[in-house]
Amino acid sequence: MNITQAKKRVKELTRQINEHNYRYYVQARPVISDHAYDMLVKELEKIEHQYPELREINSPTQRVGGQITKKFPVVKHDYPMLSLGNTYSREELIAFDNRVAKSLGEVYEYVCELKFDGIAIGLTYENGSLLRAVTRGDGIQGDEVTTNVKTIRSIPLQVNHPEVPPKFEVRAEIVMPHQSFQLLNSDKEMAGELPFANPRNAAAGSLKLQDSALVAKRNLDCFSYGLLGEKLGFTSHWDSIKIIEKWGFKVSQYTRLCQDMEAVFSFIAECEKMRPSLPFDIDGVVIKVNEYKQQAKLGFTSKFPRWAISYKFKAEQGITRLKNITYQVGRTGAVTPVAELEPVLIAGSKVKRASVYNADKMHDLDLHINDMVYVEKGGDIIPKITGVDKQSRQPGAAKIDFPEKCPECGSGLLRNDGEAIHYCPNTTECPPQIQGKIDHFTSRRAMNIESLGPERTAVLIRHGKIHQIADLYELGHEDILGLEKTYTDPDTGKSRKVSFREKTVNNILDSIDKSRQVPFERVLFALGIRHLGETMARKLTRHFGHIDKLMSATREELLAVDEVGDKVASSIIDYFSDQANANVIEKLKRAGLSFQTDIKEQSVTGVLQGQSFVISGVFQQYSRDDIKSLITSHGGEIKGSISARTNYLVAGENMGPEKLKKANSLNIPVISEAELGRMIRQ
Ligand code: IVH
Repeated sequence: MNITQAKKRVKELTRQINEHNYRYYVQARPVISDHAYDMLVKELEKIEHQYPELREINSPTQRVGGQITKKFPVVKHDYPMLSLGNTYSREELIAFDNRVAKSLGEVYEYVCELKFDGIAIGLTYENGSLLRAVTRGDGIQGDEVTTNVKTIRSIPLQVNHPEVPPKFEVRAEIVMPHQSFQLLNSDKEMAGELPFANPRNAAAGSLKLQDSALVAKRNLDCFSYGLLGEKLGFTSHWDSIKIIEKWGFKVSQYTRLCQDMEAVFSFIAECEKMRPSLPFDIDGVVIKVNEYKQQAKLGFTSKFPRWAISYKFKAEQGITRLKNITYQVGRTGAVTPVAELEPVLIAGSKVKRASVYNADKMHDLDLHINDMVYVEKGGDIIPKITGVDKQSRQPGAAKIDFPEKCPECGSGLLRNDGEAIHYCPNTTECPPQIQGKIDHFTSRRAMNIESLGPERTAVLIRHGKIHQIADLYELGHEDILGLEKTYTDPDTGKSRKVSFREKTVNNILDSIDKSRQVPFERVLFALGIRHLGETMARKLTRHFGHIDKLMSATREELLAVDEVGDKVASSIIDYFSDQANANVIEKLKRAGLSFQTDIKEQSVTGVLQGQSFVISGVFQQYSRDDIKSLITSHGGEIKGSISARTNYLVAGENMGPEKLKKANSLNIPVISEAELGRMIRQ
């Protein structure tokens, strides 16, 4: 394909991909298969790789991300991003309507919309192309998060419509749908990390990730609810919503033009009713005067528009008695306090347990046995205790203190500096840790031992057939045939009889056997090393190539790996320096699991192939992690200490004098971050 043909094809592919993207993510009515769509994107990527000059700034390949943003610049909004006054009752809303009626003295209509519980964003387009995306910030200026926002597929990168003005801004809300939120939190828990408290926090955290490829995986969504610009050519909010919908923006289908307050109240009632079944969080309804002329006449207070207001739903809250606090021990030994409650009905479901997160939170709440506590529930999230009614506390009620010993095995609990979570250090004998580790090991994204779910595993553990992950590979037919036990789910309290018949036994042994084929990166993830998620496992396996190299890596060598920080390095060192873990690895090796890989981290250009670098000091332009990934992504290698084989020392400020001395004595060139940049560009 020559460049002229390539240009034509790029244009055609861009058009097709954008169109299919719109059909899938905005209209939810795809007309081609996911595979066919992926093939179009792949083809475009290939051409862009061959002819980088044809890569448009808003190419649909941007959706997969990959660009790194170190610092999100602060940008002033073209139009201030105001917030809304809140109302919580019918009376307050009627008072608002009376003020509007009085000021206008003429007929008016309202547009009622959902109040999305996410992150507000301003999307500026110039000549139809998405120029920047800025968060609300303080309303006057916010953070520019354009690269990350480009991965959200319900936001058009390009608007091609004859009516589109040269410049406009769409105001919208970025939300994390419940399904994405649950996936994300279960991944976080698997990796032994703290989950996000709610989808809004998760959306905010996602927009601030440095790696846009990770943002792309968070499956954010975006609903547009406003249009701003000069000479737009229409006169009402309702029309503007219809227009942006036509331009390809995703707008909510639950928007209604209301002639009077009765219509407004019935809209509110409908929304409140369907709230639990929506796939994302809303926290109320927004009511806006429709005509722009009337909006202008009403104007603004110092903080809010006088032509719009929000009606906030009551938090899905309940009050009930706290019976006790129990402590759940997870697979990494993390101890989480759980409130055991007298059952209470909240938003249609019975709540018996609620999260208290950690010892600090417990301390802040100052919980006592039999306290009346406020419990809140949002969407599908685990309910949480938000407060205590101290007035109703019974005299002499016992204060609940976080335990010093593991409730399951009695070991003294530990807490690392700077972390909120307490851990039980007895990783090999503490029962829930044994079960948790095996469950993690067998899970789909780890070894994918399908036939062995938590129930069966629990039975095998209780019969003393398995004690740790490596025992799985020593199980024989006769060990498990005929086993029988009642299994009680620790969460629901429901019991079920589990028995191992011929067919079950064969399935289990087959799926254990099949897991021997699982690649090294998933085996490493499956070990359940604290703070070691899937991405990190992949990076480590590709960096070290073999488990022995990883096991013998020094702290410095670990820190030299892209994205490995102190926490992960310490966790890896702790894990492998425990003889019990080293024995497990030895057994797993003998069982034939894969502990090596030939796959290397993909390099972007390979210009630094074969060169080894040592990094030292503090940098101006990039962070240390950026410099590491810059080097490895271009084929270079990073070493923790200087030796005769080091090619370059990348030096920042306050570099250790010893390193410099050593580099000089070995005649190793010392380069700055700017020089490194130049080397790569050349
Ligand atoms: S209009 C001047 N419409 O609520 C009008 N805001 O409290 C400004 N929000 O920062 C906002 N859904 O993040 C508007 N349908 C909707 C909304 C909405 C959610 C958020 C938005 C804003 C906050 C105001």
